[in-house]
Amino acid sequence: MPAGKASAKLLDLLNQAIARELQVVVQYMWQHVQWKGVKAFAVNDALKKTAIAEMKHAEIIAERLFYLGGIPTTKPEPIFVGSTLKEMIARDVKDEANAIKMYNTIIAVARKEGDEVTNLMFRHILQDEEEHHDLFTSLLEEI
Ligand SMILES: [Fe+2]
Ligand SMILES: [Fe+2]
Repeated sequence: MPAGKASAKLLDLLNQAIARELQVVVQYMWQHVQWKGVKAFAVNDALKKTAIAEMKHAEIIAERLFYLGGIPTTKPEPIFVGSTLKEMIARDVKDEANAIKMYNTIIAVARKEGDEVTNLMFRHILQDEEEHHDLFTSLLEEI
């Protein structure tokens, strides 16, 4: 698909995806910094690794959006750190579930517009988000 040919709808969805990736980068980083309690030892590393994965997502989505003629947002969605480990991870499970929902929509729209690269890109990202959702869900059961 040549640059400048994506629909306004798809560009807007890509920017919404960037805003939520930026949110979870900071969210998981600050949760990793502010964790408390013995149980958090196990969670700490997972949060750190996931924050880095989300940063890579933000970057590749921004590259795609820019290529398609959009300007990537610098504004994250509201960040929720939480005060207890349970509160933190419960929120992360929800955010990953929302990502899965949003990225399925993006895949459908990209497909409809014949944008195979965006389609493929989000299928890969979706796979990561499903893993994150699974990870946080498992962690939540243990804390
Ligand atoms: Fe992500
Ligand atoms: Fe994720």
